[in-house]
Amino acid sequence: MKILITYYSFTGNTKKVAQALEKFLKDRGNDVDIQRLLPENESRNFFIQAKQAFLKADVNLKPPIIFDLSGYDLIFVGSGVWAFSPVPAIRKYLKLIENCKDKKFFLFVTYGSGVGRFRCFKQMEQLIKNEQGKVIGRIDISDKKVNDSEFLTKTFEEVIKL
Ligand SMILES: Cc1cc2nc3c(=O)[nH]c(=O)nc-3n(C[C@H](O)[C@H](O)[C@H](O)COP(=O)(O)O)c2cc1C
Repeated sequence: MKILITYYSFTGNTKKVAQALEKFLKDRGNDVDIQRLLPENESRNFFIQAKQAFLKADVNLKPPIIFDLSGYDLIFVGSGVWAFSPVPAIRKYLKLIENCKDKKFFLFVTYGSGVGRFRCFKQMEQLIKNEQGKVIGRIDISDKKVNDSEFLTKTFEEVIKL
């Protein structure tokens, strides 16, 4: 299967899950591309970040980015939960993706307290629905678990049925 993993990570938690996912999928014989989104001007201030996520602020993403999904069978999209929402970079990406009619998407998020993670999934799902894609699964991982590779593999085995 040809798979794309697109993620954003500010403090590195979602990156760890994305990389574990990449290894998990490659070990099972899939052809995997992975890309990390980087916004052009990014605040490092918690309150500004939270406000931007909550108010759905626009961001510009640094190229190169794969937006054309026509060559992929499955797309994983990963975000931290910010103010009960996906991060602005992921929101922007999901508005710009192309050729996603009937494409399969798998969402993953990392979170702190866990408050708002289902609302975050819902928002990501709506953005994908707007582009006529289909969400086939979700993984939510606490930021306390991102270094536990055994836990990550077990979670992937349970939920990713390819
Ligand atoms: C601005 C900001 C807002 C956050 N809001 C939430 C939240 O609403 N709910 C939650 O469970 N965690 C929240 N967190 C914690 C992050 O979701 C968590 O640490 C996540 O793993 C960060 O991913 P990253 O290291 O890939 O950037 C927030 C973190 C930041 C920086």
